[in-house]
Amino acid sequence: MENESDYLCTQLFMITIISGTNRKGSMTMKVAAFYKKIMSERSSEPVSLLSLEELNCWERSPELLKSEQELLIPSEKFVFVMPEYNGSFPGILKLLIDNTDIRKCWWYKKAAIVGLADGRGGNLRGIDHLTGILHYLKMNVLYNKLPLSRINEEIDGEGQWLKSATENVIMHQIEEFLKY
Ligand SMILES: Cc1cc2nc3c(=O)[nH]c(=O)nc-3n(C[C@H](O)[C@H](O)[C@H](O)COP(=O)(O)O)c2cc1C
Repeated sequence: MENESDYLCTQLFMITIISGTNRKGSMTMKVAAFYKKIMSERSSEPVSLLSLEELNCWERSPELLKSEQELLIPSEKFVFVMPEYNGSFPGILKLLIDNTDIRKCWWYKKAAIVGLADGRGGNLRGIDHLTGILHYLKMNVLYNKLPLSRINEEIDGEGQWLKSATENVIMHQIEEFLKY
């Protein structure tokens, strides 16, 4: 970077996709990776993926501070992909939020939410819980929130979608969020 304004110009329009679980081998990570692939193809803005698998979110750890500086603060838009664990989204995602500098990371930015569940609900309750929290954080949340039910019947071992109708609604959400 030549100077500070170059830095600001290149950093202001990042998009970060957050894979909202620390469970290894999660379906959430597969879905988040799919969002990253498609959004990278369709957006002129850099798209990053933040996994909570190895991230120490229990405190303002060095890794968390690094993610904050490199991804969360520079991003203007976030996609939260999160599984349903016991009727809502995982605690690790709330820990991440609670241990960030909320003004710099979240205030007045934009978010899209994708819920996943093995059951029929598609994490609808978790989507509502997170929406309330993101509104508390002064974020603008895309109206098109996507509940993905029976997720283990949706994706094969290679991460390919088995049902074109599901892939279509994902594409539609992505298109809307890129324009949002
Ligand atoms: C701790 C835990 C709690 C869960 N609770 C629910 C639940 O309340 N409802 C549901 O439909 N699925 C539940 N599941 C199943 C997940 O939705 C399923 O594992 C799905 O693949 C998404 O989670 P994953 O990203 O960790 O794979 C739970 C899974 C775990 C590990």
